Amino acid sequence: MSEAIDVASLSKTFGGQAALSDVSFSVPEGAFACLVGPSGCGKTTLLRILAGLETPSSGQVLLNGSDATRLNPASRSIGVVFQSYALFPNLTAAQNIAFGLHGKDWPRSNKQARVDEVLALVGLSGLAKRKPVQLSGGQQQRVALARALAPRPRFLLLDEPLSALDPHVRGALRAELKDIQRRTGVTTVMVTHDQEEALALADLVVVLRAGRLEQAGSPRHLLEQPATPFVADFVANMNIIEARAESGERISIGATVIAGVVHGLAPGAALSVAAAQGNTRLTDAALPAACPARVRAVEFAGRQLRVIARLEAGGTLIRAHAPLGSPVASGDVIGVAFDPQSLRVYAGAP
Ligand SMILES: Nc1ncnc2c1ncn2[C@@H]1O[C@H](COP(=O)(O)OP(=O)(O)O)[C@@H](O)[C@H]1O
Ligand SMILES: [Mg+2]
Repeated sequence: MSEAIDVASLSKTFGGQAALSDVSFSVPEGAFACLVGPSGCGKTTLLRILAGLETPSSGQVLLNGSDATRLNPASRSIGVVFQSYALFPNLTAAQNIAFGLHGKDWPRSNKQARVDEVLALVGLSGLAKRKPVQLSGGQQQRVALARALAPRPRFLLLDEPLSALDPHVRGALRAELKDIQRRTGVTTVMVTHDQEEALALADLVVVLRAGRLEQAGSPRHLLEQPATPFVADFVANMNIIEARAESGERISIGATVIAGVVHGLAPGAALSVAAAQGNTRLTDAALPAACPARVRAVEFAGRQLRVIARLEAGGTLIRAHAPLGSPVASGDVIGVAFDPQSLRVYAGAP
């Protein structure tokens, strides 16, 4: 069955170097998808292929079930917003928006009404006559969004549209972007390197790493069931710890044996264990199920402390929460303990 966007076995090489390798996922009609991953993992390349600005080396893009792989950008019914505002500096906000409304579908009378409508949609009704230099970064990005949405595209593609904005403006515009997307119902794909942004906005998070798909799913699915240590780390912010399988439901981290961990792997097998920060507790180093660690830093994190410590076994840095006022300081030797049932276990060393 086809969805609004189907990406099928997409690969792209630049001069022999793979930027995308066999990437497949689907975006349902009206959904907000985020492509997330570290810098250089192929996000922009994938978005440009969806936009028709780049041709894949192999694989297909289906839009509403039809092969669009070779379709030119103008025939795809897409609106695009990039990180830099890319507005015409000599045109007003309204003129910038009207720029995309041409052809027989947009006679002069309809054009003006549509410009007013999208200006209101992005909350800029009073600023129609301003030039880009007279607008803040956030307002310029609203104009870019209005321009992209004005022709009523079926698809909206956004490449890091918020990342040039300062954090305060970014948070506000993020919430509004979500609201505008919901109200228009336009099927959206947004690129971000910020996993928090992806989790806040997306119905579907698509995680890329070095040109490959790591996992695609709802924010909740990725947070609760990260398929790989990379997703557990990058998306769910979990601690990834080197461990070894023991017989029965036991694992060892260095000399510490932890019981009650279901793994199904042969004793001696190398493991990666993912522990949420909320499931990484500080205890007495002398307790049998505690992993000894040395505190490297204590930071304020909202209404609690974030403790960064180095495990004696393997030297892994872990992050844990502690209540404000906990008597923990840099250099202390502490124990780190986990609820065994909430650990996620992956075959292979980190
Ligand atoms: N036009 C191009 N020519 C050559 N290499 C490119 C080109 N575009 C992207 N790349 C390479 O492809 C990889 C993925 O780039 P990109 O899609 O921009 O990553 P991201 O947006 O995730 O940071 C990088 O290694 C990048 O250097
Ligand atoms: Mg990019």
